[in-house]
Amino acid sequence: MTTAATRLPRVDRGSSPQVVRTRAELRALLAAAPRPLGLVPTMGWLHAGHASLIRRARDESATVVVTIFVNPRQFGEAADYTRYPRNEARDLEMCGAEGADIVFAPPAEEVYPPGYDTTVHVGAIAEPLEGAARPGHFDGVATVVAILFSLVRAERAYFGQKDAQQVLVVRRMATDLALGTEVAACPIVREPDGLALSSRNVHLSAAERAAAPVLHRALAAGAALHGAGERDATALRDEIRRVLAAEPLARVEYVSCADAATLEELRTVDRPALLSLAARFGATRLIDNQPLG
Ligand code: PAJ
Repeated sequence: MTTAATRLPRVDRGSSPQVVRTRAELRALLAAAPRPLGLVPTMGWLHAGHASLIRRARDESATVVVTIFVNPRQFGEAADYTRYPRNEARDLEMCGAEGADIVFAPPAEEVYPPGYDTTVHVGAIAEPLEGAARPGHFDGVATVVAILFSLVRAERAYFGQKDAQQVLVVRRMATDLALGTEVAACPIVREPDGLALSSRNVHLSAAERAAAPVLHRALAAGAALHGAGERDATALRDEIRRVLAAEPLARVEYVSCADAATLEELRTVDRPALLSLAARFGATRLIDNQPLG
């Protein structure tokens, strides 16, 4: 009998990855997997942003593991969780095309077995911005990523700069819990008109989709002002808000100019900084950011 484990290592690229649903199957495959191992955690509905992470993992790893799991613990509104887009067949195709070796796509009880009762809570770095706007969100993210890091034990895991605070939260968690997985950040992939790719873009109406590139335009205006020598953080935030205000479909949640390492709001941009924002277009909440310096 051929067990899952004996089918590794895979060398053929661009074919179907091995799909596993349980911790036990994953463990069996990983025992025989060539190192180093690269992990790309996702919630599915994969797009070119996810593909860029898988490609970078492919370049740097002997074995690439993609996880697809819509994590109920990181959603505030139940409606956001239930309407989160899902299409596993298409996701698996993309994983294969980008050269992933293993896809771990577990049911919820395989991630959180009966009796599961542990939450990973990251401190100060998880408090502002998305942490303030979405209470409990980063507890859910840190908890599921800690479980995935423990199960996969990759040398490196790949995350998108699109969720800049998530990178900092996950890195803090992995360092503090000594999980042994290095957290790599990859650049934001955008549509030609500047809109950052996001699984949630699919929910935008035609008018909202046409309006959404204002997020990138506003950040670019802030970055341009910084490039012209402006160092007053309030002036940069005001410039971003001025551009956003011209788009009636954008309901701004926050505009931030913060220390890139601590995410504390700045008065003066005298160190590496991050411009970031969140806005709603109808029922759809979008985020974007732009580093400075
Ligand atoms: P998800 O939103 O599916 O994103 C998976 C990874 O893809 C994240 O690291 C995210 O930052 C990255 N990503 C999304 N859009 C991107 C873009 N336009 N350019 C570059 N990278 C992009 O983030 C999550 O899932 C979850 O919180 C997860 C980490 C999987 C934990 O459940």
